[in-house]
Amino acid sequence: MLRSAPRSGVSAALWPAYRVDSLPVSDLNPITQEAADAAVEAALAAFAAADSVAALKTARTEHAGDGSAIAQLNAKMRDVPKDEKAATGKVMGQARGRVEGAYKAREAELAEQEAAARLVAETVDVTAAPSRQRAGSRHPLAQLQEEAADIFVGMGWEVAEGPEIEHEWFNFDALGFDPDHPARAMQDTFFVEPADRHLLLRTHTSPVQIRSLLERELPVYVVAPGRVYRTDELDATHTPVFHQIEGIAIDRGLTMAHLRGTLEHFARQMFGAEAEIRLRPNFFPFTEPSAEMDVWQPNAKGGARWVEWGGCGMVDPRVLAAAGIDPEEFQGFAFGMGIERTLQFRHDINDMRDMVEGDVRFNRQFGGLV
Ligand code: DAH
Repeated sequence: MLRSAPRSGVSAALWPAYRVDSLPVSDLNPITQEAADAAVEAALAAFAAADSVAALKTARTEHAGDGSAIAQLNAKMRDVPKDEKAATGKVMGQARGRVEGAYKAREAELAEQEAAARLVAETVDVTAAPSRQRAGSRHPLAQLQEEAADIFVGMGWEVAEGPEIEHEWFNFDALGFDPDHPARAMQDTFFVEPADRHLLLRTHTSPVQIRSLLERELPVYVVAPGRVYRTDELDATHTPVFHQIEGIAIDRGLTMAHLRGTLEHFARQMFGAEAEIRLRPNFFPFTEPSAEMDVWQPNAKGGARWVEWGGCGMVDPRVLAAAGIDPEEFQGFAFGMGIERTLQFRHDINDMRDMVEGDVRFNRQFGGLV
């Protein structure tokens, strides 16, 4: 057994304690002390030079494995004269022991180094403050559309969608707009070329009324939040892209009282239990009678006031007829509110541009962390 393992990097020649003093050497003995020492030293140097456990294993195969100098020397044991066998065997045993000992020591050293390096590499600083900055945010308008739709879902309504590139027939004709209605003119509507396809960017969510009536069985109770487009310049009070939430209810026996009750509930869910609504006569080509709806906001910043919220009315019999519904049997109401306006009232936002610029700091004020 080795008294102590040679330290890596230290030449085997510095460890004479391992050596038997003198090997009886006869010319007949094929194994010499020098050959054994040379094999050991080569192995120790290779182990010392190995800089990883993997490299060390390779060095062991080379210096202690089957084809190694030590193995080759060992193989010569059978040719050693009988009376020299014991002493030579001791030399070889010590040589092999030194190599094995050096290997084990270097292996332990490298394994420890590697473990320490791994610990450093995999360190998790549990005391470090995590970054609270998130990459983005949901937009308050998107959140508000969902919130509004949810209020109707809570009353048993369905949520519908329609295309933003819409056919002129759905956007205007089916809703009773005359062919020469000013809203069709180029200054209000983005038409999509070529003109003979009669496509446009929908100017309101009302075409979803027609789509819902054509697609669904009666009765229909549908809300449709979505994006709409008009050729307005972007300024503090206008944006060419904005959002509305449309609603249509068609059933037997619906009256203006149902319209009023529904809108009042919606307003109170949106603005608080004290919110009131009022309807003022107005005109829309697709409702008769039609009304402008204001909402009383007792808690509005800057003082309680009426604010104009949207349009509504009883669905015009011509609209029902356009969707193949018998107006004698079915009636109903419809409404459309601006989502941007709703956000403005609720949060006293004075400049529309804040809503379109996409500054994440604006969005985060509404809690829309993703
Ligand atoms: N579509 C109308 C607009 O954008 C708003 C509107 C008015 C929608 C009356 C309706 C309605 O459903 O009944 O100005």
